[in-house]
Amino acid sequence: MIVAIDGPAASGKGTLARRLAEVFGLPHLDSGLLYRATARDVLARGGALTSEAEAEAAARVLDPSTFEDERLRHRGIGEAASIVAKYAGVRSVLLDFQRAFAARPGGAVIDGRDIGTVVCPEADVKIFVVADVEERARRRFLELEARGEPVTRDGVLETIRQRDERDRTRVESPMRAAEDAQLLDTTNLDIEAALAQAILLIKRKIDRPEPD
Ligand code: DC
Repeated sequence: MIVAIDGPAASGKGTLARRLAEVFGLPHLDSGLLYRATARDVLARGGALTSEAEAEAAARVLDPSTFEDERLRHRGIGEAASIVAKYAGVRSVLLDFQRAFAARPGGAVIDGRDIGTVVCPEADVKIFVVADVEERARRRFLELEARGEPVTRDGVLETIRQRDERDRTRVESPMRAAEDAQLLDTTNLDIEAALAQAILLIKRKIDRPEPD
């Protein structure tokens, strides 16, 4: 079974995907890490995020053993990832990695922005996770504050708005819900309630697949 979980920054999709993978005994890929690692490596080599060629070169030699790197979670890297994610060359290299992951026997849970539309259009279940931007900013602010990052609420809100805009309006694989995706609004749900809803959506879909 392939489960595609898409949605904007801080919607809860990452935690949800990880928990769903545990519940259904499937491997999990956070595809955002690929874009984050690409951006990190461009910067580590002293390269420019504005160079598509440099970003593509970094994507080609990504080392998956570095995906646990705590720095990938930092705020600046999320922004940088959103910049390199605009490039067709980067997306095409990372697409191969994601498709290979999805092709594992038994399937996978993959979260990102374009999993249901581009990476796995054949996914058995597609969930598009949304939440009000103020609520997403609140969650991200608390997370960053707890990690000791110097942030303000307004700054986080503005950054999330800009990232949404960039991810939604780019030409290559923009963030959007697939036509056959089920929407899950987590604005008023904690993670346990969101997980319960997502499990229900998956079970309904698997028990009752729609006719072609
Ligand atoms: O999910 P995240 O915040 O870790 O993603 C970081 C950036 O990577 C996001 O702003 C856009 C890009 N991304 C993407 O373009 N496509 C994906 N499938 C996943 C992430």
